[in-house]
Amino acid sequence: MAALVDRYGRVHTDLRVSLTDKCNLRCTYCMPPEGLDWLPSPELLTDDEMERLVALAVRELGIRSVRLTGGEPLLRRGLVDLVGRFAALRPRPQLSLTTNGLGLVRNASALADAGLDRINVSLDTLRRTTFAELTRRDRLDDVLAGLAAAQAAGLNPVKVNTVLMRGLNDDEALDLLHYCLDHDLSLRFIEQMPLDAQHGWDRQLMLTADEILERLGAEHTLVAQPGRGSAPAETFLVDGGPAVVGVIASVTRPFCAACDRVRLTADGQLRNCLFAREESDLRGALRSGATDAEIVARWQAALAGKRAGHGIDDPSFLQPDRPMSAIGG
Ligand code: 5AD
Ligand code: SF4
Repeated sequence: MAALVDRYGRVHTDLRVSLTDKCNLRCTYCMPPEGLDWLPSPELLTDDEMERLVALAVRELGIRSVRLTGGEPLLRRGLVDLVGRFAALRPRPQLSLTTNGLGLVRNASALADAGLDRINVSLDTLRRTTFAELTRRDRLDDVLAGLAAAQAAGLNPVKVNTVLMRGLNDDEALDLLHYCLDHDLSLRFIEQMPLDAQHGWDRQLMLTADEILERLGAEHTLVAQPGRGSAPAETFLVDGGPAVVGVIASVTRPFCAACDRVRLTADGQLRNCLFAREESDLRGALRSGATDAEIVARWQAALAGKRAGHGIDDPSFLQPDRPMSAIGG
């Protein structure tokens, strides 16, 4: 089988597929209050097109895990069927989903039955008012109910993703940890990245991994766990375990050298990095009748040109044209 290897020898086995750029929240670190100009439907990959690309990825390119993202992937019509189609591929990829949790109550068990293996739910605060301020929607209870539904559906361990911002929710690091420990949830803090549509990212407002660990360390003993591999999260045993907490320090401790990810946007563009400045048009190839071999070759060529790192700290760093919601997390 051909593999997705870049010129630094990194082998890519993890595919992130954005199923839609739409979202039903408006997180301040992601998009403006009015939302964005969503991609027009004819530009979105159909379910058949998605299935063909993911089938090629697992059969010909060595992809072993597929994470479904958005925007908000639960807004994709026919999501459960699509998960079932991905689960029927051989070799069968590991299937996971990153969601804001809204609507999960309705879908969690159908998704698990269709073959979803893992789920990550975003939760930045436990305070109703802060949630409403941060996401511009008063939906905290729906997210908490969604987490419980995912656990009841057996999608364990359910992971929680948290972004902390100074002056907004940075006083909640310990509360969030305690909530997750009490509820058997696996918590990971993510440093805020310059990927918002408004280009309003400010390094000073981001909480760094050091600061997060300091806050958690005020009440807990954290011991770094070895064997991280290509996982973006550094994990720490909490008070001797078995509970762990993770920190994804994309900005202050970049892990680009071990990156094994490649991304497909909802409109069929391949991105070799969240911060890539170029995309490779797989939709165009599909719709102009490209053969499997041609698509595989295009995919490999797009990966070969992957840069060593995101260079957020480089003075010449330019934020990508697309925001996170149109790339996928
Ligand atoms: N920086 C860090 N994390 C982000 N997310 C969305 N935008 C950003 C950003 N600019 C998170 C969401 C979700 C996951 C997909 O990424 O909160 O948990
Ligand atoms: Fe939606 Fe996720 Fe962006 Fe929040 S961060 S607005 S949940 S896509």
